[in-house]
Amino acid sequence: MSRDDTFPVPHGFLWGVSTAAHQIEGQNTNSDWWHKEHAAGTHIKEPSGDAADSYHRWPQDMDLLAELGFTDYRFSIEWARIEPVQGEFSRAQIAHYRRMVEGARARGLRPMVTLHHFTVPQWFAERGGWTAPGATDLFARYVEAAAPVFETGVAHVCTINEPNIVAIFGAIDRLGVGAIGPAGLPLPDKDISAALIDAHRRAREVVKSISPDIKVGWSVATQACQALPGAERISAAYSWPREDVFVEASRDDDWVGVQSYTRTRVGMDGPIPAPMDAERTLSGWEYYPPALGEAVRHTAQIVPSVPIIVTENGISTSDDARRIAYTKGALKGLAEAMDDGIAVRGYFHWSALDNYEWGSYAPTFGLIAVDPATFERTVKESGRWLGTMGRTARCSGTDET
Ligand code: BGC
Repeated sequence: MSRDDTFPVPHGFLWGVSTAAHQIEGQNTNSDWWHKEHAAGTHIKEPSGDAADSYHRWPQDMDLLAELGFTDYRFSIEWARIEPVQGEFSRAQIAHYRRMVEGARARGLRPMVTLHHFTVPQWFAERGGWTAPGATDLFARYVEAAAPVFETGVAHVCTINEPNIVAIFGAIDRLGVGAIGPAGLPLPDKDISAALIDAHRRAREVVKSISPDIKVGWSVATQACQALPGAERISAAYSWPREDVFVEASRDDDWVGVQSYTRTRVGMDGPIPAPMDAERTLSGWEYYPPALGEAVRHTAQIVPSVPIIVTENGISTSDDARRIAYTKGALKGLAEAMDDGIAVRGYFHWSALDNYEWGSYAPTFGLIAVDPATFERTVKESGRWLGTMGRTARCSGTDET
């Protein structure tokens, strides 16, 4: 196969898919998102409900992923389940997530565990969230309590998913989900950004104190900013608080996660919408596969000595052929960046399953479809296509750590 058709998965490369607890587990009733979904006057279109019922069906999900050929699985553990009431930790929930780690390994899937993926316990939100006094101590205490989940058998821990998006949740609450628009992001809250950077460092310390061998990092929502002629400084000023400051904060980490979906063009007056005739995904974002390669290069410019893992990349579409075309284009850009010497250690596709896309089930990102009534899983052609490349990597001796 030519370079355009397949990705040359190197030895030891992580070849996986990503999910997040709230988006697939269902009935995450002690989380702030569950409360937001059910609040009077909410802008949220539909509640998460049972999601994909993966809280119960994770063995089947992992069976499918391993059968398809993937070697790695990134999933998040849910703080709101582990500490549903402040200071009360659930041994049963910790044991549940430990079973998932062991279940992944038993199937030949290396688990990457995310400690925080957008949701917090409702009690944490009610006491003021990330900027309330003691918030980062509480996060560190949760990470310590969750140690049995990851202290052995987990090579990679992601502390916080997309802190740059978490820091705009306030704006999204005010403006609606459309605030994550095709024409750029609102300005992240400065205090929340600082608190998240602190929380990340504290979590890294805790994880390292539990097992110094675990490779710790976090994942940033990259924007692939493109400055229009003359707007280079405006683009840089736009990108810094929305992305670069979080990448910069990963300078001492073992890896940094790049999450890429589309680009943002920036002109003299700031971000501008995609061209009128541009193809758009179900999320309203411009169909732009080269974003991944561009985002990887931008990240490497900021922290050249930190290895990169692509922790999310994908497309919401009902046309699975477009998913394959998009992913081919994204992987081509990734392979070129690697050919140019950028250290990339893995690729995780978003997402394993069609899932709850923060307010709606309409944007379908999955390699596997889920029947909302029966929860029956149906593997899409894209899942078979992408998984097969991992099978080749495994045969050529994928690192088993
Ligand atoms: C998030 C996922 C989300 C995906 C697609 C990322 O921002 O980490 O939770 O579903 O993008 O929007």
